[in-house]
Amino acid sequence: MKQRILVTGGAGYIGSHTVVELQNAGYEVIVIDNLSNSRADVIDGIERITHIRPAFEILDCNDRNGLVRLFEKYPGIKGIIHFAASKAVGESVHQPLQYYKNNITSLINLLELMPEYQVQAIVFSSSCTVYGQPDLLPVDENAPIKPALSPYGNTKQINEEIIRDVIYSGVPYKSIILRYFNPIGAHPSVEIGELPQGTPQNLVPFLTQTAIGIRKELSVFGNDYNTPDGSCIRDYINVVDLAKAHVIAVDRLLGGKNLSNVEVFNLGTGQGVSVLELIETFERVTGVKVPYKIVARREGDIEKVWANPAYANRVLGWKAVESLDDTLLSSWKWQLKLRERAIM
Ligand code: NAD
Ligand code: WQD
Repeated sequence: MKQRILVTGGAGYIGSHTVVELQNAGYEVIVIDNLSNSRADVIDGIERITHIRPAFEILDCNDRNGLVRLFEKYPGIKGIIHFAASKAVGESVHQPLQYYKNNITSLINLLELMPEYQVQAIVFSSSCTVYGQPDLLPVDENAPIKPALSPYGNTKQINEEIIRDVIYSGVPYKSIILRYFNPIGAHPSVEIGELPQGTPQNLVPFLTQTAIGIRKELSVFGNDYNTPDGSCIRDYINVVDLAKAHVIAVDRLLGGKNLSNVEVFNLGTGQGVSVLELIETFERVTGVKVPYKIVARREGDIEKVWANPAYANRVLGWKAVESLDDTLLSSWKWQLKLRERAIM
């Protein structure tokens, strides 16, 4: 029988790509999402790709009674992948309580209910933001956690600590914490992708919106960093590669292959790419010019960070394989699709 997996925030960017990979791998998926940062028709896109429609309930993870009803309605959920969270760094600075409430209460509700419903595993979406500016690059999982630069970042650190404390207390479930670097790109089918609301804060959606003419020009936040071309360096990871790591994490937890009851993995490519290199690559692969100007540094930005993914490569048997060229091309095709569908 197919094992049932609950995906919170499964209508969102990374969640939707993961639902596709879980279904391709033979899992039965139940998606919950409060649609605070996504659209219900993402489920149609998932169905067009996989020819399977996942069960979908509009539900807020802060609604504990609603979660109880969900576990009653879908008995036998074996694992949870918890994506649901608010994720806008800048907004979190102005609405800290909203972020602490949403991102922390959601996790606590799930962790509390898991033993009651015999859920054996939870995979948690964390972030490279927990490393701040690492002292050593590439950064591995043993690098120290640095003081968070935003309430959003702090919610990731606190959630990691909550998971560790709860597992240490001897609960009957296990966890894998995945620290994503910078996820970009869209599904090659162009049926699902990133749907930023309002003005994008992240580089790639801002870039593709500029390339298509929604934005006048892209601001490059600083060219006076201590990097070869002066712009910041990140590790941009293809969203489908990222999604596949979640399936491996679930397989690992449910198959009892974990080395300890809580494991942490970096999910990145291991390659650092500067903002200016990324723009050049986009222009080369799409043939589209991106108007941009250099402006002042953005407050709170990290100068350079990229992953050492060796532990995930070795222990999970997972590796990012998609090239930056193909990934940026997928972002562009997705932007064109959003226009075709008159969404943006
Ligand atoms: P997203 O906003 O596209 O997806 C999150 C989904 O969760 C959205 O569909 C939203 O409507 C839903 N949601 C939010 N709060 C909810 C709640 N209380 N109950 C139910 N649904 C709720 O974001 P994403 O980029 O797919 O990120 C997924 C996860 O990965 C988040 O936890 C995010 O913090 C983490 N993460 C993202 C990045 C990134 O750059 N995208 C990097 C590191 C970590
Ligand atoms: C990438 C680079 C910017 C926009 C954020 C969160 C982090 C994680 C991923 C969730 C930086 C530059 C950007 C623009 C630019 N999310 N940039 N012009 O800052 O690495 O990380 O998203 O956990 O927590 O902080 O990603 O895409 O915003 O920026 O020059 O208009 O692009 O300075 O160097 P970031 P980003």
